[in-house]
Parts: sequence; structure tokens; C-alpha cells
Amino acid sequence: MPAFADVDKDTWQLTPEIARRVAGKMPIHAVMPVAVYGVPVSADDWDKFTEDTGIPVIIDAAAALETQAVPGKCLLAHSLHATKPFSVGEGGILISRRRDQIDEARCISNFGTIMRIAQKDGSNAKMSELHAAVGLAQLDRWAGIKKRRADVFARYRAALAKSGLDLALQKGIEKAIVSALMLKVSGASAAGIVDNLNARSIAAHRMYLPPLYHHPYFSKCVVVDGQGKQLPGTASLEQRIALMENSEMLNQSLFGVPFHAFVGEDDIAHVMHTLAQALDKPHGQSARGR
Ligand SMILES: Cc1ncc(COP(=O)(O)O)c(C=O)c1O
Repeated sequence: MPAFADVDKDTWQLTPEIARRVAGKMPIHAVMPVAVYGVPVSADDWDKFTEDTGIPVIIDAAAALETQAVPGKCLLAHSLHATKPFSVGEGGILISRRRDQIDEARCISNFGTIMRIAQKDGSNAKMSELHAAVGLAQLDRWAGIKKRRADVFARYRAALAKSGLDLALQKGIEKAIVSALMLKVSGASAAGIVDNLNARSIAAHRMYLPPLYHHPYFSKCVVVDGQGKQLPGTASLEQRIALMENSEMLNQSLFGVPFHAFVGEDDIAHVMHTLAQALDKPHGQSARGR
């Protein structure tokens, strides 16, 4: 049964310090820190965590291919889905420095077989030849993809600085090859801003939000705050909301702006102009908090 831990307020990520506090208070079989919105986590710090505690760590760096340092001890997973900077359409990459883990992953992703002989449970999770071919073509485009995304990010950052709006970026976002650019607003409801922008045909979004413990499917999972204080599966959503301070702050204040490799100066100017209008009327009809 998964337990959801609160995150750091600046990086918006689970940290080894939080995981240590949680591990001191409840049994944990594995930890999955997420390189949220493509911002890499510290491979060294998570290696140290797993060395000190003996608890295995799988880093979900879905959108942080290349920017995420490869750990020495932890497992590392990347996504090659269409929404990620290095996309082949579908598929992923599992990275380990341990031969036995790689062999086991190969076996499980190939019907649980070794040399056509079934050994264990598995599925058909091999990359198709077509996706592999797209991957090879993407390798040729990779430098260009990175440059275009870095340019779009730089334009957004300059426009934000110039706008004077009370909007903050994720700590460490400059290390990412941005795929989803999230802004943190103060003194207004992010959900209201998204409604406002959507009503004006701007595809603002709330990627990874609301937090998973709000979803019906996960409503019986344990939640743990940054100090390791936990609530059982029977706790109400109101009790969870009261406990998960930083996740809730982010739920109130994060929204995503349109981001892809071909967003132009004019598009960004339009987004910023519309955002300024929305923030001028934070209590207006469509920007009302919820
Ligand atoms: C943090 C994170 N983990 C996992 C996934 C799932 O990746 P995939 O679609 O390749 O299974 C995503 C995709 O959006 C993601 O952002």
C-alpha cells in the first residue's frame, strides 16, 4: 500500500530528509522520489539515503532524461512518452548499475522469459522496433530539441521578470529541459487563473494536480507530513488537507502555461498579457478561488 509524503516547499519534491523522518516512524519497503516537472533530484543524496537506511530507492525521473545524474545505488526510470522532451511516442528507460537488476528487468519485460523459457511473471513491455527507430531519429534531433526548449524557457523567464507579476518558478527549473512550465502565484487561486486563461483559449493546465491523495482511488492511502506525522487510510480528505501543508500550498498556487518547443515570442506575450489581466481581477468572476 503506498503512502504519500509531503514535499519540499521550494523544489516541490520529496527530499531524503523528509524520507528519513518518515522512515524513522513507519516501516518503508521502498521510496520513489519524483523529479517533478523534470527538475532532477540529487542522485548523491538519494544514494546516501539508501546506503544509510537499506531502503531501496527508485527515482522517477520521467521527464529528466540526461539532466538527471545516474545514481550509484538507486534505480532510475525515464519516460519516452509524447509529453516528454525526448519522446519516441511511448516507452521508457530503466537504468541501474547492477547487472542482476538489468537482467531481471529484461526478463520481466519479455514475458518473464530467458532465452524463450518462462521463468517468472512478466509482460510484453519490450520497446517495439518502430519506437526504437523513432528513438534513433530523435537522437539526431536532440541538440535542436534542447536548444528550442531552452530558448522558449529563456523567453518565458525574461517575460516574467519584465511583467512584475507575483509569479515564481520552481527552484532548480534552470537545470531541466523543460516540458511543463509551472508558475507559482501568490495571493490568488491557481485553479481560478487556469479557468480564466482557458476561457480565453489559452491552454493553461494543472499537471500533477490535485495531489494524488485527493483522488478517489488513493483515498485510503496513508499520508505523512514533512515531519513524519502520519494519518491512517480512514482519515477524511479534510484531515489530509490539514496535514499536507506544502502539497496543499502547491495545490492552491501552481498552474502551467503553454509550453512546447515552438512557442513563439508573440504567444508568450499573449499569455503574459492575459495573465496580467487575470491577476488584476483575482476576485473576478472567472478567477474566483475554489
Ligand atoms: C513523473 C512521471 N512519472 C511517470 C510518468 C508516466 O510515464 P509513461 O507515460 O512513460 O508511463 C509520467 C508521465 O507523464 C510522469 O510525468
